[in-house]
Amino acid sequence: MDKANRNVSMSKLFLHKGIYFLEGFVTPEYIDSLKDFPVRDSDVFLITYPKSGTVWAQQILSLIYHEGHLRRTEHIKTMFRVPWLEYNVNNMDYDARPSPRLLTTHLPHYLVPKGLKNKKAKIIYVTRNPKDNMVSYFHFMIMQNKHDGTEIKPLHMGQFMEQYLTGTEVFPCSWIDHVSGWYAHKDEFNILFLSYEEMIKDLRGVIQKICSFLGKQLDDQTVDTIVEQATFRNMKKDPLANYALNFATNKETKEFLRKGTIGDWKNIMTVAQNERFDSVLQERLKDLPIKFIWDITEII
Ligand code: A3P
Repeated sequence: MDKANRNVSMSKLFLHKGIYFLEGFVTPEYIDSLKDFPVRDSDVFLITYPKSGTVWAQQILSLIYHEGHLRRTEHIKTMFRVPWLEYNVNNMDYDARPSPRLLTTHLPHYLVPKGLKNKKAKIIYVTRNPKDNMVSYFHFMIMQNKHDGTEIKPLHMGQFMEQYLTGTEVFPCSWIDHVSGWYAHKDEFNILFLSYEEMIKDLRGVIQKICSFLGKQLDDQTVDTIVEQATFRNMKKDPLANYALNFATNKETKEFLRKGTIGDWKNIMTVAQNERFDSVLQERLKDLPIKFIWDITEII
């Protein structure tokens, strides 16, 4: 099986510099080499913790930059248009890609190419309220296990939550470390922070904000088309955009785009788990300048 069709559960994790990576997809040497990855001023990096809306933001960036995607004249997976820096599963020659290059990564602030500190290349960092993020991640892991055809081990939310909060054997690290690290070091980069929740609340406004950050001037009609093609409904039925083709195509794995909403954590976390989660957040995220939106009713 080639790398592009393997999945997370089939891979063991290995720890390198405080981050878990997928064995068989990447090596410690390759990760270290990325420090010297030659960054171009025109590069755009999308950075996220997994399950924060990465695929959604990839779709938006691809639509903004690729006429052939916007007009539906080319049928290329979004993943190939905004490929992964550390998981180059398709062995792309990133040096040969025309500018502006769009790249995606889950790397923490201290492992990204040092050229990003020239503050010319742009970074878009998308975050999501951590309870929905964790629940989305939890379902993703279940989906991945099923993809294998065997339940590797039953996942329990309580246990998964502890891993998620502490970053123990969870890919790539704890959400708290990833997000707080990027916020603490934001002044070293040219970075736009966005949240999944504001994308849900005002997709058009977020797309305009991205365009303004990227210096892209699009007419209203083009923005309308991007909004339309980036809706949950449309992405869910578009296999090029929804990652269905990146995994095996059995029924279970078609649910990469699962619920696409805010507040689903209430359907799965117990009161005790929620209290424990809040207490860790209070302790660890005191200084983080984010006001989370925890429920869809807060924005409608
Ligand atoms: P859920 O599992 O809560 O549905 P990532 O791409 O970082 O792995 O994030 C996946 C999450 O983003 C999934 O969340 C998925 O449904 C959601 N998502 C992807 N595209 C979306 C869209 N257009 N609108 C809303 N949510 C979207």
